[in-house]
Amino acid sequence: MSALTKNNIVLVGFMGTGKSTVGALTAERLGWTFADTDRWIEEKTGKTIPEIFAEQGEAAFREYESEALHELLGGKHMVLATGGGAVLAGANRACMLAGGLVVALTAPMATIIERVRGDSNRPLLQGDASERVRTLLEKRRGAYDFAHMTIDTADLEPAAVAARIVAALQ
Ligand code: S3P
Repeated sequence: MSALTKNNIVLVGFMGTGKSTVGALTAERLGWTFADTDRWIEEKTGKTIPEIFAEQGEAAFREYESEALHELLGGKHMVLATGGGAVLAGANRACMLAGGLVVALTAPMATIIERVRGDSNRPLLQGDASERVRTLLEKRRGAYDFAHMTIDTADLEPAAVAARIVAALQ
């Protein structure tokens, strides 16, 4: 791993794989800053993610997301949790790979469904959440494989996942 790719840690993965929880813990352990692309977008626009999807559409949200990545990965010593769909654009993947150690978090479908049940903050999962997860997971199969490393979070406490990430930096 070159010095450049250690500047930041970028967490990617499907919704409900634990990126925000693990990201905050990893940042705490390293004494680095934690950021989350969704929170950056909400602060910038003054709107919630569901409001952006409803009022401006998904395409506008994806533009904010790309802007967030480019802005946040320009610096050093940041742990960045990204939205589950941020990996879909090739330019975003390139930005992540250039900006830091990219870590993909995964979990089995049943675990994801359990974790996102009843969540009203994820516009893509409204309606029959189980069916939405199933369809989206299928559509995004392989989308997170570009990461430098992958950790299955199903049977690990968030602190143990963070410890593995920190160990990978050494
Ligand atoms: C999305 C994931 C969400 C959020 C938005 C769209 C996606 O983030 O960015 O609702 O397309 O997978 P989380 O992965 O943090 O839930």
